[in-house]
Amino acid sequence: MRANSHSGSGSELAVEAIDLRRSFGETKAADGISLTIPRGMVFGLLGPNGAGKTTTVRILTTLLRPDSGVARVAGFDVTEEPDEVRRRIGLVGQYASVDEIISGRQNLILIGRLYGMTSSQAKRRADELLERFDLLEPGKKAVKTYSGGMRRRLDLAASLVVSPSILFLDEPTTGLDPNGRAATWDVISTMTKGGTTVLLTTQYLEEADRFAEKIAVIDHGRVVAEGSPAELKARLGRSTLVVHLGGGLTEGAATAAVTRFAASAPQRRGDELVVSIDDLAGTAELIKALGAAGATLDQIHIAKASMDDVFFELTGRDRMPEGKAA
Ligand SMILES: Nc1ncnc2c1ncn2[C@@H]1O[C@H](COP(=O)(O)OP(=O)(O)O)[C@@H](O)[C@H]1O
Ligand SMILES: [Mg+2]
Repeated sequence: MRANSHSGSGSELAVEAIDLRRSFGETKAADGISLTIPRGMVFGLLGPNGAGKTTTVRILTTLLRPDSGVARVAGFDVTEEPDEVRRRIGLVGQYASVDEIISGRQNLILIGRLYGMTSSQAKRRADELLERFDLLEPGKKAVKTYSGGMRRRLDLAASLVVSPSILFLDEPTTGLDPNGRAATWDVISTMTKGGTTVLLTTQYLEEADRFAEKIAVIDHGRVVAEGSPAELKARLGRSTLVVHLGGGLTEGAATAAVTRFAASAPQRRGDELVVSIDDLAGTAELIKALGAAGATLDQIHIAKASMDDVFFELTGRDRMPEGKAA
């Protein structure tokens, strides 16, 4: 008997993964990944190319067995009860999974039929989804004629034929042009408002920041940080104060004025002094001190840490340029 408090769909957690490991030869694609995602949350798995995002998603969606570790999805064990898991999830893969030759509408109907809908149920569901994803007209044409954005929207629609309780979106916007990305973002926004649990992987900081309530940053198969976007920024991304020297303001006077507010020693960069600050609460005092040292207001700039700063600090590298393999 599998009697434990986590088993079955009554679980409070949509995803619970403990120490997942999976190697490919020498590569530790997942090197001890643990994740906890409550029901209804939009969770972002953020990491550069090759970090282990797809490997994690494949394990959680039963497509790949972990070498070790345990994962429960919708309350069911991914290795012990894969059919139960599959019945409750939707997956939009990094690469489109629809049939090229037939129309978008036929693809959606086919999926509905595969899930046991009657022909008329499947048609009704297909038309609802085509309308929702703005694909009514293209829906009649063969998928091979679609633009990247249309393909991705069809892929999203395909994952929703049977309303999943947990939706996995593996880099839903990678490779799309800005229009396609914006259209996909609209669709994701609509979906995430409906209460479905979503695990979204992305290399785009902006995307994680925009959608996810909670983010796990992964690199080299490990979770290197976890928290809300605001928490990650607050914990890791310091704000930066830039003071333009000159006028009545010398480097010595500026340094003396900012030192007690600075998180680390101020750095000279050309005719600027760059200062890392942890706590924005002292900003008013800091500006007053600089004023007393001879600075005017237009010489002072404060930039709040971006997700890019956070990401860079965590992984020691920038996002890979789009379309380039690691
Ligand atoms: N089927 C596989 N065979 C060999 N190596 C793989 C395979 N799948 C993933 N890897 C390797 O595992 C690492 C993580 O890959 P992946 O999970 O696809 O990362 P991401 O989705 O974050 O880009 C990479 O180094 C990748 O080359
Ligand atoms: Mg991937």
